[in-house]
Formats: sequence, structure tokens, C-alpha cells
Amino acid sequence: RAPVDVDVSKLPPGQQITVVWHGSPVFITHRTPESLARLQEAALAARLRDPSSGALQQPPYAANWHRSIKPEFGVVVGICTHLGCVPTYSPAPDPATPIANWPGGYACPCHGSKFDLAGRVFTGAPAPYNLPVPPYSMPGPTTIRLG
Ligand code: FES
Repeated sequence: RAPVDVDVSKLPPGQQITVVWHGSPVFITHRTPESLARLQEAALAARLRDPSSGALQQPPYAANWHRSIKPEFGVVVGICTHLGCVPTYSPAPDPATPIANWPGGYACPCHGSKFDLAGRVFTGAPAPYNLPVPPYSMPGPTTIRLG
């Protein structure tokens, strides 16, 4: 099947778009400098089930702390690894969340799994794995090619 090009030049920092690719939602997020700083906090890593994504195969270009080609653009398959619901984009910290001090990311509406903005699942969530990174490339600085 033909790859799908997504132009992210107009996607403002802090915003996300959802692209349907091969029938699956793919979240493309323009991460802010603040959220990138949070992703690198050791205190965050300590609360993730699999901070380096060793349990779930992911493309080599996503084997880094931001799980993407360019740090500012997150690209993950938006299907909860528990039972397949679509997590909600919640980039801001939410003091009301059952997981204390959650820095924001993705929240699954079905059984409460929480993920950070790199799609990494928090300890204690029912989802067993991080959100997968789909096959993609970046043929231009603001073009994401899925597939
Ligand atoms: Fe997401 Fe169950 S499907 S927590």
C-alpha cells in the first residue's frame, strides 16, 4: 500500500492530529520544549513500566528517549495495548488523575491506562506495553511519511 505523507508544518506546538493509517489511528504530536524536558526526567522513567521500550519491538529510529525521528514530533499508534480503545490526548498535567503527579500524555478512557507523551505506559496501568511506533520516515523537516 502507498505511504501516506502528513504535512506537520502548520501543527502548532502542543497540538496533536490523528491520521488514519491502514485503518488505525496514528497520533502525531508536536511536543513542546517543556514536554520534551519532562520526558527526560529520571523521576518519570522510574514510574514507567518499560522506559526504554525493550519489551515491544519498535523501529530502530525510535530507540531513543523521545521514541521518534525528531524529538519534537511524536508518532505513535493510538490504540491502547490493553484492549484496543483509543486513548485521549491530555498533554497537560492533571492533578485529578488517579496516578499522582501524572505529567500528561495519553489517557485511556476504558480502564484508565496512562501513557506519557512518548507513548510509554505507566506502572500500574492495565496496558502491558507502550504504544507502538509505526513505520515512518521524514523526507522533509515537516513531512511525516507513514508506511
Ligand atoms: Fe485501555 Fe483497557 S483498553 S486500559
